[in-house]
This record gives sequence, C-alpha cells and structure tokens, in this order.
Amino acid sequence: MARKPGTKAAPEPLFRRPVKSGGKAWWRFFRRIGRIEIECIDLKEARSELHRIAALLDPNELTRFRNALTETARVEFATCRATLRAVLCRRLGCSSEQLSLDPDASGKPQGTVLGRAVDCHFNVSHSRPHALIARSPRRPVGVDIEIRRRVGRSEAIVDRMFSASEARSIQRRLLEGDPNLFLDLWTAKEALAKALGTGILRNPQKLRLPKSLINGAHSATIQNYGDSGGHWTIQRLGNSDYAAALAYETGPARNEFARMEYNSLTNERH
Ligand SMILES: CC(C)(COP(=O)(O)OP(=O)(O)OC[C@H]1O[C@@H](n2cnc3c(N)ncnc32)[C@H](O)[C@@H]1OP(=O)(O)O)[C@@H](O)C(=O)NCCC(=O)NCCS
Repeated sequence: MARKPGTKAAPEPLFRRPVKSGGKAWWRFFRRIGRIEIECIDLKEARSELHRIAALLDPNELTRFRNALTETARVEFATCRATLRAVLCRRLGCSSEQLSLDPDASGKPQGTVLGRAVDCHFNVSHSRPHALIARSPRRPVGVDIEIRRRVGRSEAIVDRMFSASEARSIQRRLLEGDPNLFLDLWTAKEALAKALGTGILRNPQKLRLPKSLINGAHSATIQNYGDSGGHWTIQRLGNSDYAAALAYETGPARNEFARMEYNSLTNERH
C-alpha cells in the first residue's frame, strides 16, 4: 500500500520474529543496572543458525566473518555482531542497513545511523559458550566475561598486567587460595579498559583498579579517571561458573584540574 506523503516508513525490524534457534532463543535479557541493559548470548544455540545470522551482517562484517581463522571465531563474531545489531536497531528505531558499526582508532566499534553518531554506548564480550552485550543510553560502558577455568601462570600475568602496588595486594590474596580472585580482577580490569576504549594491552599497569575492589568489594567507583576525567564504576557480575564485570562512566569530569590530577596520578612511578 502506498504511504501518505509526509509520513515516515515504520522502522523495519531486524528480526521479524523473536530470534529462535531450534525452538530456543539464542539471546535473552540478562540484567539491568541503572539505565544499562545487558543481554546474554548462548553461542552453542546460535551455531545451527549460522547462515541466517551471517545474512544479517554488512559487507565488511561478512568479509571478517569469512576470513576468520576458525569456525569458533566465525560463530562468535557473527553471532555477537548480529545480536548487537538487533539490540541497537530495536533501541534506535532504525534498520540494520542504516546502522554502521565501524571500529575507532583503538578498535572499539562505534555506531552511526546514516552517517550520524548514535546517542548510545555499547560493548561486547565473548567467552565460549557465552557472550554479553551491554548497552548504555548516555555514557560509555565496558563489559568483560571469562568462563571460570584454571589460568596457568596467573602470578606472572599479575606482575605484568597490574601496577606494582596492585600486584602486591593481589599476590598476597592469591596466597590465601581464592580460586576466583584472578579472573574476577582480570575481568574488572578488562571491563574498565573497554569502557575507556583503550583496550588492555596498550598500558595495562597504568590502568589501576580501586583498592576496595582488589580487596574483595563487589563494586567500586573511581573519581577523576581516564582522558575524560570522569567518574567510573566497576561492578562484578559473575558467579561460580563465570567471572564478569561491567564498567561505566557515572559522572562527568568536575573541571580541568581533575584531568590534570588524573594525569599526574597515572604517570606516577611505582
Ligand atoms: C580487544 C580487547 C578490548 C578485548 O579483548 P578480549 O577480552 O580478548 O575479547 P572480548 O570478547 O572481551 O571483547 C571483544 C570485543 O571488544 C570490542 N572491542 C575491541 N576493541 C575495543 C576497545 N579498544 N575498547 C573497547 N571494546 C573493544 C569489540 O566489540 C570486540 O568484539 P568484536 O571484535 O567481535 O566486535 C583487549 O582488551 C585485548 O586485546 N585484550 C587482551 C586479551 C588477553 O590478553 N586476555 C588474557 C586473559 S587471561
């Protein structure tokens, strides 16, 4: 039927029916924290629907999907990206064709609709067989998940990836024998790095966690942090099967002085 002049076409839904795979959804709502919503993906469920999922990707994503080195990497990338598209299209009221998800200089995907930056932040993390997608309406967000496993040489990783003062506290707690400690703190650090957009590998020791989190707190806030000089909250989400953490900006920088304070703090030698 022809549209009346001046009326807009209804946004085309990405998935016409709820996303189903063998009668079971491959993603579901997981948790809400303030205004942040987190979806959980079951990568095993999605595997049998790969052709349908791949059809939802844009040409660049399709190339990355085809060039992935392993079947596992293909499934993880395509499923997370197609689900991210579904989540964002629903929130933004756009079609998947209108949405671009291109990486910025540090690799963090940024959304644009018809060339305009979207007013919505998001982040993805996968650790087989699950993945998480966090979406925040206004402020940057980072999420990380790791399935619980024994991590070999965790003491050496702690020395390399955490600052000297962090490493001292963590090594002391590792000696107490908490099997969950390493991955809990690792996911916290990754989530913070991903919220800031820096990635963890550029300068991991500079990216310090609040002391209370290292000492076992469930969540903690750091003030005047990152290039923006904002306040950031890091919250653990995991249980005995997986470690996970969410990091999000909770407030803007108070002033330029806060940024300088952060820079001098993070340039400190340990
Ligand atoms: C890339 C990185 C941001 C996260 O990597 P990761 O933990 O291996 O992977 P995750 O599944 O948690 O996250 C990957 C997603 O993060 C997003 N991402 C990529 N670069 C990002 C950045 N600079 N900031 C925020 N998010 C980023 C992407 O959406 C990516 O998924 P996609 O490529 O399918 O779009 C980075 O921190 C990294 O390289 N980490 C090293 C991992 C490592 O050494 N692990 C050892 C654990 S014991």
